Amino acid sequence: MSDLLAGDVAVVTGGSSGNGRQISLTLAEHGADVVVADLREDPREGGTPTHERIGDEGGNARFVECDVTDVENLRGAVDVADEFGGVTVMVNNAGITHSSDFLETKEAEYEQLMDVNSKGVFFGAQAAARKMVDHGRGGSIVNISSISGLTGRGDGVRYCTSKGAVRLMTYALADALGRYDIRVNAVHPGLVETSMSADDLGVIGSDSAAAYERTTPLGRIGQPQDVADATLFLAGPRSSFVNGESLVVDGGVTNTWGGGWEE
Ligand SMILES: NC(=O)c1ccc[n+]([C@@H]2O[C@H](COP(=O)([O-])OP(=O)(O)OC[C@H]3O[C@@H](n4cnc5c(N)ncnc54)[C@H](O)[C@@H]3O)[C@@H](O)[C@H]2O)c1
Repeated sequence: MSDLLAGDVAVVTGGSSGNGRQISLTLAEHGADVVVADLREDPREGGTPTHERIGDEGGNARFVECDVTDVENLRGAVDVADEFGGVTVMVNNAGITHSSDFLETKEAEYEQLMDVNSKGVFFGAQAAARKMVDHGRGGSIVNISSISGLTGRGDGVRYCTSKGAVRLMTYALADALGRYDIRVNAVHPGLVETSMSADDLGVIGSDSAAAYERTTPLGRIGQPQDVADATLFLAGPRSSFVNGESLVVDGGVTNTWGGGWEE
């Protein structure tokens, strides 16, 4: 517990599970009030709903049902933050993934991924920024992209497209909103152990995860706390001159030769 974020009010999309859950818990641990905005209340991985756990630990949190593909839902989620004094931190984290053969990808599949991963971030940032501008206190927007927003992967063309858009959107928003003292940054996680990587992709425990561990200089896959700590830094005052940045949280796999643990 610290008071690093005392007085802050954070809205975290996709905050019920995985990375978003750990981000919500961590921001609350450091003093923020948190609005968890998600399609579902129960964590995909099981356990007490995020907002209840924050309450149990002495913090303030609310759950609001929100589909980030619906702009009115996003605005409603940000409105809930007014109950705590108004949003100061927006974490656009909700995301989905599917591996698919590029040559077989259907239009509806493309649109679904772009709607959640890109449009949801765009209008989440807009909903929060409008409130932040109205309140005149500035703020911090953190968009959760991926290392798939930095490098291309042939079995994830849709996902890379959606996450690359988040990276450039972040840079453009940093320029558009800096004049209001609103900073906009992105976190780019590598492989992280969540329901997405375990159940949707089936990667955890597979040869791909073992290969990631072998080729990553730190020799392990990521945990949601790794993503949460990077988000905490970008959300709060310790990054007050950081704007339009891509913070890569991947154990070093993207920026190195990647031969680390090969025999
Ligand atoms: N897990 C990884 O390896 C990894 C790596 C890089 C980036 N990421 C990114 O991290 C973010 C979180 O992923 P995760 O691994 O925690 O996934 P997860 O599936 O474990 O959790 C995602 C949460 O988002 C919610 N969600 C999904 N669609 C939504 C929608 N339309 N509206 C509102 N909420 C919605 C889900 O209900 C769930 O609670 C995503 O943006 C993902 O792309 C994950």
